[in-house]
Amino acid sequence: MKTENHNNTNKRPPLSPLLKTAKPAAYFILLLLTYALGYLSAPSATSSPQFQQQAPPLPSLTPLNAVSDSDFHSSSPSNSVIQLTVNSTELDSFRVTTQCADPISPELVRRTLVDRLFNGTSPFSNFPPPHAARILRRTTKIKGWGSKGAVFENLIRRVKPRVIVEVGTFLGASAIHMAELTQRLGLSTQILCIDDFRGWAGFRDRFSKIPMVNGDVLLYYQFLMNVVNFNKTGSILPVPFSSGSALIKLCEWGVLADLVEIDAGHDFFSAWSDITRGYRILRPGGVIFGHDYFTAADNRGVRRAVDLFAKVNGLKIKIDGQHWVLYSA
Ligand SMILES: C[S@@+](CC[C@H](N)C(=O)[O-])C[C@H]1O[C@@H](n2cnc3c(N)ncnc32)[C@H](O)[C@@H]1O
Repeated sequence: MKTENHNNTNKRPPLSPLLKTAKPAAYFILLLLTYALGYLSAPSATSSPQFQQQAPPLPSLTPLNAVSDSDFHSSSPSNSVIQLTVNSTELDSFRVTTQCADPISPELVRRTLVDRLFNGTSPFSNFPPPHAARILRRTTKIKGWGSKGAVFENLIRRVKPRVIVEVGTFLGASAIHMAELTQRLGLSTQILCIDDFRGWAGFRDRFSKIPMVNGDVLLYYQFLMNVVNFNKTGSILPVPFSSGSALIKLCEWGVLADLVEIDAGHDFFSAWSDITRGYRILRPGGVIFGHDYFTAADNRGVRRAVDLFAKVNGLKIKIDGQHWVLYSA
């Protein structure tokens, strides 16, 4: 059979000259079409396919407060494609809240918070509870960081605050110092101490003496104990929650401050959100300030957050010792 077929092929009549040229031409046109289709469906040669699929929509440019792309240097070769422009609305973590409630008067602040946070009973009532009384330390030496810096007296003298919000209190060193200053200056000031009183992962390496019960470090109780020891229970009130949720609630409840001190999380994101939210609850003419602009911690993000916040909001940064200070516009 095989031999037969082979023989038959050999016997085919020769192709006409027209067919001889038409066949390669058809192959060529087919090849051309395939190439053209492939070219048209491919992504643009200048953009990376990964970027096209994953990049979030570019923020829009608002001329006022806009930060130019040269402010955000990147080593990426696609620098020219990503035009990063940021405006204050987009960086404002408060954009879900249209505005803070009308401010309540400073005289009502303590009562309002005791009602809202502690069901109407002061956290200092019947303190300490028996299970903690035995193990808490009664000391006048309280560990803090820059807690007695000159900035506290400078700002308290200047602003004469009725309400101070401290974000990051730990054992109360700076809060107690501020309470002593306001008392000495004859001011009637409430100092609200926002802290989750958890410290930070690993802080026990340096603070092993703070008592612990079933893995629960008694930082909150020790703070209350210190305030009691210094006889400052009338002017200091804890707000024992995370800074984000507490500052949002103060805003919603109309609890505004003349001074806001930021000294909680020292990474960029924590500092950024605390500053953004803290600034929001300032009374007109109020001042926000914080620690660690010039210390080893600044590299972790505090200084970058302060610088960016000041730039976006058109504010000037003043320096007082290790502290940064921003006067509200
Ligand atoms: C550096 S200490 C504050 C020191 C204090 N200002 C002083 O000078 O004595 C930081 C405190 O921030 C608190 N903290 C950190 N992140 C927090 C957050 N997201 N919410 C609430 N408190 C936080 C920690 O529990 C810790 O007590």
